[in-house]
Amino acid sequence: MKIITVDNYNEMSKAAAQLVEQQILGNRETVLGLATGSTPLGLYENMIEGYQKRGISYRNVQTLNLDEYRGLGKTHPNSYYTFMCDKLFSQLDIPLANVHLPDGTTQPVEAECRRYEALFDRIGPPHLQILGMGTNGHIGFNEPGTAEHSLTHCVELDESTRANNARFFESADAVPTHAITLGIASILKSGKIVLLASGKKKAEAVKRLLDQEISEDFPASFLWKHEDVTLIVDRDAYQLAQQERR
Ligand code: F6R
Repeated sequence: MKIITVDNYNEMSKAAAQLVEQQILGNRETVLGLATGSTPLGLYENMIEGYQKRGISYRNVQTLNLDEYRGLGKTHPNSYYTFMCDKLFSQLDIPLANVHLPDGTTQPVEAECRRYEALFDRIGPPHLQILGMGTNGHIGFNEPGTAEHSLTHCVELDESTRANNARFFESADAVPTHAITLGIASILKSGKIVLLASGKKKAEAVKRLLDQEISEDFPASFLWKHEDVTLIVDRDAYQLAQQERR
């Protein structure tokens, strides 16, 4: 795992955008794996700036998102589809036909999981996958206890994850209890992985990741099994890990 330490959230976002832009300039038909949540928002702003000011085109790029809430359709204000359209896709030249997320409403859910994994293999796997990390080490919505060989599946969200994500909803109870997520094995199929971590809130998780103990209890630790992972971490998130390394 390559570790890039930066001063703050803005620097993390810029460094990640540089990697994304390099990738796209090298291959206009890049497949990007994308995440939601707060962590990649600065990256997405930088990608939009790159398109508007530096002419980086996403016309031939395809995207595959990690996850979607169960029960929320494309038009729901809190669906990850809506989030991605608002924060990124609507401000790039990417055709909506090129953006892919699991559908939170398809029944039965197992059929949707199979469809999305097959799509992921057909269009992807991503040349470059962007990841954030939960405070409990989840990647995508692979909560502690998820098996290394897992493919796209439906998960019950941890109470801690629901509480963390409540800020996007009207109330904590409104956060869905389940989600569809790419599995650990799906994520590890990606060519390159860029993991972003920022802020004191993530310091404990970053420390645990850098302990290098691979375990289902801390899903991000499976990233040690991939040969091309770059962690971009800011000073606050790196603090505890660094103390340990001294
Ligand atoms: C989102 C996702 C999650 C988030 C994680 C961190 O698509 O897959 O794993 O990356 O919950 O969330 P934030 O960035 O809000 O701290």
